[in-house]
Amino acid sequence: MTITTTMIPHSRPSIDRGEIRAVTEVLRSGHLAQGAVVERFERGMAAYLGLAGGVAVNSGTMALEVALRVLGIGPGDEVILPSYVCAAPWQAVQRVGAQARLVDIEPETFQIDADLTRAAITSRTRAIIVPHLFGLSADLTRLAQLGVPLIEDCAQTLGAMEQGRAVGSVGTLTVCSFYANKLLCAGEGGMVLSNDPVLLERARALREYDGAPSLNPLATNLKMTDLQAAVGLAQLDRLPGFLERRVRLAREYREALAGTSAILPAVPAGRSHIYYRFVVRISKRGSGSDELSECLERLERQGVQCRKPVFQSLHRYLDLKGFPGSAAAEDEALSIPLYPALADEEVAQVCIVMRDEWRRE
Ligand SMILES: Cc1ncc(COP(=O)(O)O)c(C=O)c1O
Repeated sequence: MTITTTMIPHSRPSIDRGEIRAVTEVLRSGHLAQGAVVERFERGMAAYLGLAGGVAVNSGTMALEVALRVLGIGPGDEVILPSYVCAAPWQAVQRVGAQARLVDIEPETFQIDADLTRAAITSRTRAIIVPHLFGLSADLTRLAQLGVPLIEDCAQTLGAMEQGRAVGSVGTLTVCSFYANKLLCAGEGGMVLSNDPVLLERARALREYDGAPSLNPLATNLKMTDLQAAVGLAQLDRLPGFLERRVRLAREYREALAGTSAILPAVPAGRSHIYYRFVVRISKRGSGSDELSECLERLERQGVQCRKPVFQSLHRYLDLKGFPGSAAAEDEALSIPLYPALADEEVAQVCIVMRDEWRRE
């Protein structure tokens, strides 16, 4: 059934007068580079996560690299991370000269598997990068018991809980991304947060070439501008409302897709989901590897732009065998448009198109 010819994009930021006013104020102030607004954004994010402080940088990718560097990680060290995640964490590990040890995910939740992580620990393991994918927490309790510093990657998840604790509040370090399609966006940007003032001080020294009295060859220009921080601060004010709307929309999608062949997002007991992405699994009709692409094309023709939520698993990039959870996710996972700026009519249209796509024959 064709509903409309207008495409509902997979992602769209929520920008209103607050963000425009905040940027205009910075423009009028005459101070555009990193300054007081960045500091306010750092304090605001730290307060949101209940942490001592944050250091804003220019991307989530660089926040990951800074997090590894402030822990003193380098050649000879190993860092564990899941195979099913974007390339940024792996690239950060490469840039500091450490070795990435990939582990598979929990097949149902898409999150890093705590048992496999335990099995991958060696005497050289210096950190575990824990991305909380799609708005759901990883198994923080069990990961925190492993005795290895956790770097929580909150690029995709803020405000979700695991056993009563907020994501981002448990690890030795937490990193965020404020890229344009994120829960809280600033165009581009990232942050490293922690309760440890020494780590924060080291992070601060890395983001500016002239940030410390002695010459540091690893320091560079990673600064965020006050313009971006102004957008981020305005978005931070709206974050609780954004998350509420995401959860409400997810409820509507669950109702619409009940009884269809789509496998809905799993939320294990003790964890909450804030639906940065609403990721369903398509139950494949055959063994053809193109089924997901065909499904994406069909949905697009119906005016709903869906996406593979991870472009390509790290184990596939690296041609490694033995990651069945990541491989299945890559072949079956499909992300449906879900964001606060989605209009009610668009939600209704997405529901009709989805039900049609996955109706049981
Ligand atoms: C889990 C995860 N980590 C890190 C990043 C990198 O963040 P950025 O795009 O801000 O560099 C992303 C970006 O999408 C991400 O999803």
